[in-house]
Amino acid sequence: MNLPTPLNKDWVATGKATYDLKCLACHKLSDEKLVGPGWAGVTKRREPVWIMNMITNVDMMLEKDPEAQKMLEECLVRMPNQNITQEDSRKLIEFMRSNDGEK
Ligand code: HEC
Repeated sequence: MNLPTPLNKDWVATGKATYDLKCLACHKLSDEKLVGPGWAGVTKRREPVWIMNMITNVDMMLEKDPEAQKMLEECLVRMPNQNITQEDSRKLIEFMRSNDGEK
């Protein structure tokens, strides 16, 4: 699935605000691992739907998705459910795309 460009600037800003509040404690914007993997390149290695499921339905992903389970084995911490809406998860993806250099 290809998401449209140019990026929606308002969504990037809202996504960043959510990141600062709810994700920054565990995720860096570089490729460096903190508690969870750094976000650099995440939109290149994962499909948008996969990212959205990880954000809105992490328990299902950790139970069923082999890629998510592999990360859990490496990180040894379960990403908590943060009660993010579909709408906010889409804005987070816009922020991740911006972090990956999309305009
Ligand atoms: C308490 C720490 C923690 C917080 C807070 C957190 N995460 Fe995570 N996240 C993780 C861990 C750990 C993983 C790896 C999977 C696992 O072990 O559960 C992960 C994995 C991910 C992945 C997959 C990364 C990849 O490289 O494929 C995405 C996307 C993600 N988180 C998004 C978010 C978003 C968006 C937020 C904020 C709304 C958030 N996370 C908040 C710990 C956290």
